[in-house]
Amino acid sequence: MTTEFSLNGERVTVEGDAQKPLLWVLREDLALTGAKFGCGKGLCGACTVQVDGVAVRSCSFPLALAAGRSVTTIEGLGRDGLHAVQQAWVEMNTPQCGYCQPGQIMSAAALLAANAAPSDADIDAAMAGNLCRCGTYPRIRKAIHHAAALLAAEQAESAQEIVPPAEELEP
Ligand code: FES
Ligand code: FES
Repeated sequence: MTTEFSLNGERVTVEGDAQKPLLWVLREDLALTGAKFGCGKGLCGACTVQVDGVAVRSCSFPLALAAGRSVTTIEGLGRDGLHAVQQAWVEMNTPQCGYCQPGQIMSAAALLAANAAPSDADIDAAMAGNLCRCGTYPRIRKAIHHAAALLAAEQAESAQEIVPPAEELEP
């Protein structure tokens, strides 16, 4: 069976079992190894990617459900350099061993796309499905707040770029 979908902005076609978990399609068929295998049961979040902007557990997400949709992995999150969440992760020195972090970042980016200024409670609720055996949770929370600030600054900057200077608006 042939399955087509958008992957990090490029159209891809995959041949084979449409019930194969997306995680293994990404890792084995498409050589994208950023999404990690943890539990294989949708419980740890290590395999998190985004489908149409929503964080999903790719170990429990059949390829068939990706057909015609837009899949983003950690490799494609920052299209022009680092995404603000990745930048915040670097600046806050968030990872420890790093294994869970691609999944954490994909969940955090999906959260911020839906909620530009999440509270601690919002963060805890959205990130509850992403486990970290190194216990980096306090740094993750701080990094999400920092990423929210970076995104707000980016938006303010691009709004300034598209507003013409005041003198150009005068008759
Ligand atoms: S490997 Fe997918 S949730 Fe754990
Ligand atoms: S940084 Fe090691 S499991 Fe999260």
